[in-house]
Amino acid sequence: MPRKIVVTSALPYANGPIHIGHLVEYLQTDIWVRFQKMCGNQCFYFCADDTHGTPVMISARAAGISPEALIEQMHKEHKVDFDGFYVEFDNYYSTHSPENKYFSELIFTRLNEAGSIVTRDVEQTYCENCKMSLPDRYVRGTCPRCKAENQYGDSCEVCSATYRSTDLINPYCATCRAKPTLQISKHYFFKLADYEQRLKDLIAGGYTQKSVANKLDEWFKIGLKDWDISRDGPYFGFKIPGEENRFFYVWLDAPIGYMASAKNYCDRNGLDFDNLWNSTEYELYHFIGKDIMYFHALFFPAMLIGSGFRPADRLFVHGFLTVNGEKMSKSRGTFIKASTYIKHLGPEYLRYYYASKLTDGIEDIDLRIEDFINKINSDLVGKFANLASRSGPMLTRKLDSQLGQLDEQGKGLINKLTAAKDRIIEDYENLNYAAVVRTITALADEANRYVEQNQPWATIKTDLEKTRGTLTAVINAVRILTIYLKPVLPKYAEKVERFLNVEALHFADVETVLDNHKINDFERLVERIDEEQVNAMIEESKEGPMPKAAESVKTETVAAEPFKPECTIEDFERIDLRTAKVIKAEPVEGADKLLRLDLDVGGPEKTVLAAIATAYKPEELTGKIVIYLANLKPRKMRFGLSEGMILAAGTGGKDIYMLSADTGAKPGQKVL
Ligand code: MSP
Ligand code: ZN
Repeated sequence: MPRKIVVTSALPYANGPIHIGHLVEYLQTDIWVRFQKMCGNQCFYFCADDTHGTPVMISARAAGISPEALIEQMHKEHKVDFDGFYVEFDNYYSTHSPENKYFSELIFTRLNEAGSIVTRDVEQTYCENCKMSLPDRYVRGTCPRCKAENQYGDSCEVCSATYRSTDLINPYCATCRAKPTLQISKHYFFKLADYEQRLKDLIAGGYTQKSVANKLDEWFKIGLKDWDISRDGPYFGFKIPGEENRFFYVWLDAPIGYMASAKNYCDRNGLDFDNLWNSTEYELYHFIGKDIMYFHALFFPAMLIGSGFRPADRLFVHGFLTVNGEKMSKSRGTFIKASTYIKHLGPEYLRYYYASKLTDGIEDIDLRIEDFINKINSDLVGKFANLASRSGPMLTRKLDSQLGQLDEQGKGLINKLTAAKDRIIEDYENLNYAAVVRTITALADEANRYVEQNQPWATIKTDLEKTRGTLTAVINAVRILTIYLKPVLPKYAEKVERFLNVEALHFADVETVLDNHKINDFERLVERIDEEQVNAMIEESKEGPMPKAAESVKTETVAAEPFKPECTIEDFERIDLRTAKVIKAEPVEGADKLLRLDLDVGGPEKTVLAAIATAYKPEELTGKIVIYLANLKPRKMRFGLSEGMILAAGTGGKDIYMLSADTGAKPGQKVL
């Protein structure tokens, strides 16, 4: 009996483009789905855009369009990106849909009836100017611990302290710079702790990987807290039933989006959603990244259990992508968008490379550019494609494109390849794609050795039939290896199918031999990567640092950095600018961005802490005449007292330029 399976990937946020980090997940899932289909199982792959929440609302405002228009545009872009990488959803839907509204309200109402929802007054930060309550990342201010300025509302980038946005000193709205006020408002909470035992049972039953279960254990030990599921308007989302200006928090309706996507598919295809989602006829699996475990292993299953729906059979969690051992970075050009990648390189290179690295673990996956080029050129091109290009053209040109029979040694080779089938299937099933690729590569080595030993290029001159036998074995090896690789390389496999003149290949086809069969003309399967292509892609991905407010949005959408309120000439004249000579400059331990400068300002020596370490080395500064803001009130920072400020401007990173006056000026001179 074929299995019936429903699979989902996490729903990408609708306020940013798909990048190669996301693709770890969508490729991992797509490979698994294609594998299931190739085994003859019924498998549906559902996903959608995650459209609600503050970032989408603010991005839309900044772009001067409605959130609906923004998410529609993003939906199109995401779909193009996924198509480009052959990620084949059965339905790619949206959380901003009638089905999702229906299920969100239904689940909320049932949870409410079950007594799992409570309301409580909450103190929230509100911007009178933007007329909205501000999520933590949209409030900025001075860190209550180290006194660094311009820090986020939840944590400090300089000293790593975490705090509540209401603890910030001199808080301001990240969007408009106005000073926020505090407001008391009623919020809805989901009583997660009511489900503790049922969640523990679920997880003990193998809901997710061991390493994930261990992490969840820590959370159980800390204790499950009530979850705030409401946000005050204006908010782009669904209204809470019975409320005028309160909405479901985006993370409440986002996972329900899996159900909405499935329901929408069922309705359009004459399937019964209740049977698909809620009976045991279908297996149900979610694929997610490790950053969103809490939502998928605790909140979502608890919500489902509490409202009479069944949680998934398993949650597959993967690690994060790093590039050359580091987090993806815009300045290094390793924050690579799917659309940028596809301009320079073929999608199957990345599919193959990720497959060669993916296991069922939650460790991070490192894309080493050198290793990437090497794996493609020496394995994919050098081992797999080469096998076909060494045998195909010879058969066509010299042997009428006609396969013969396997000889004894050929049978031995093919038997070895066939024998690996069960292990490969098991490794695919268990998400050990790296093991699959290792096994298949070893088999390709074996097949290439067979070619070396039998030397068809030599025997073709003396013994046509022996050569036909050899090439028949090679073509059969190509066919089996292609079946094994097909979930990873669907287009490559299509080309091989055309060339071999066979129907779409499935795993069951491994058992049969292709003999006495006419093949088609050989077409090139895959090209080598030229390092230049990769360099061009990285070059195109390089961007200067983003404005801080925009960076705060997880998906990196550019929001316009607003201007500060007007400042009069009188305000400006209060500033006392002087020349100062740097006597000593040194790094500040524990603060990567800061330098400590001792300044000769014409009177008593002053010390300032300047956030210029990303652009200047201490030794470049000694002896330099800089411009110094002399009457800035000294500030006590975690790393010491800062008695003024030196003038520098730029967008950050390497792009910071210090004003200097190295024209023989003396320290302490007034600057006009
Ligand atoms: N919208 C939420 C998910 C809601 S699911 C009901 C979200 N979106 S996301 O766009 O930030 O991420 C989508 C998926 O991609 C997540 O599973 C996330 O873990 C994964 N990845 C995002 N960046 C990634 C890497 N750099 N590396 C690997 N996976 C990454 O979270
Ligand atoms: Zn504001």
